[in-house]
Amino acid sequence: MKGIEGTTAIVTGAGRGIGRDICLALAGSGADTAVLDVDVEGAAQTAGLVEEAGRGALALRCDVSDAEDVQRCVREVLEWREQVHILVNNAGITRDNLLLRMSGEEWERVLRINLTGTFNMTRAVAKHMFRKRSGRIVNIASVIGQMGNAGQSNYAASKAGIIGFTKSAAKELAPRGVTVNAIAPGFIDTPMTAVLPEEVQDQMRRMIPLGRFGSGGDVANVVLFLVSDLGSYVTGQVVNCDGGMVMAR
Ligand SMILES: NC(=O)c1ccc[n+]([C@@H]2O[C@H](COP(=O)([O-])OP(=O)(O)OC[C@H]3O[C@@H](n4cnc5c(N)ncnc54)[C@H](O)[C@@H]3O)[C@@H](O)[C@H]2O)c1
Repeated sequence: MKGIEGTTAIVTGAGRGIGRDICLALAGSGADTAVLDVDVEGAAQTAGLVEEAGRGALALRCDVSDAEDVQRCVREVLEWREQVHILVNNAGITRDNLLLRMSGEEWERVLRINLTGTFNMTRAVAKHMFRKRSGRIVNIASVIGQMGNAGQSNYAASKAGIIGFTKSAAKELAPRGVTVNAIAPGFIDTPMTAVLPEEVQDQMRRMIPLGRFGSGGDVANVVLFLVSDLGSYVTGQVVNCDGGMVMAR
C-alpha cells in the first residue's frame, strides 16, 4: 500500500494473534518490522514469517509495562534501522473477574500492561518521530472500552484509557506531523478469545450484525489504511473494526 514500502515499524505483542497478523500485513506492503513480545519464541516465529515474506525483521523480548525495557528496545531498533516510521501498540492482556472479587493485582496488571505499556512505548518512540517531524502511531483499543462489560472492569478501564490517551497524543503530536489513532476491534478470533466458553462465543456472535467474528487480518487492514498515504489526514480517531457490533447496540 502506498507510503508503507521501505518503512520500519514496531509492533508490540507481536508473538501471536492480531499482532502477528499486523506484522505480516505490514510486510506484505513492504515494511520491515521490529517484532516485540514478552514471549521471545513467539516473537522469533513471527520474525521468521516476516522474513519468509521477503522483509527484514528483528525479534526482541520486550515487556511494555517496564519503561526501561521499552527504552532499551527502542534504542536497539534504532541501531538496527535508523528510523521508525510506524508504531503499533498492540500488546494487551485480560484478567477477568467480577468487580467485588477483583484483586488489586488483577486490576494493576491489566492497567500496567494495556495502558501504561501504551504510554511507555509511545513516549519512547514519539520522541524520535517528533524530531523527524513524521510518524504514524496506532493503538489497539477495544469495543469493551466503549461499551463496558461485566467481569472486565479492569480491561474496559484500560481500553477506555487508551482512547483518551490517543486523542491527547494526537493533539500534542499533530503539529509535528505525527498521526495517532486507535482501532476498537470487536470479537476477533485469536488465542485470547478461543478460551471463552462456546455459549459465550455464540452469545457474542448474535450481537454482531455481520454475523461472524473478525480475523486478525480484518484488524490489520485498518492498520494498513491508517499508516499508509491513504490515512494521512486522519488523526485522533477511533476506528471500530467490529462487524457493526457497537453500532447495533
Ligand atoms: N481478540 C479479540 O477479540 C480482541 C478484541 C478487542 C481488542 N483486542 C486487543 O488486541 C490486542 C491483541 O489481542 P490478541 O487477541 O491478539 O491477544 P493474544 O493474547 O493472542 O496476544 C497478545 C500478545 O501480547 C503479548 N504480551 C502480553 N503481555 C505483554 C507485555 N507485558 N509486553 C509485551 N507483550 C506482551 C503476549 O505474549 C501475546 O503474544 C490486545 O491489545 C487486545 O486487548 C483483542
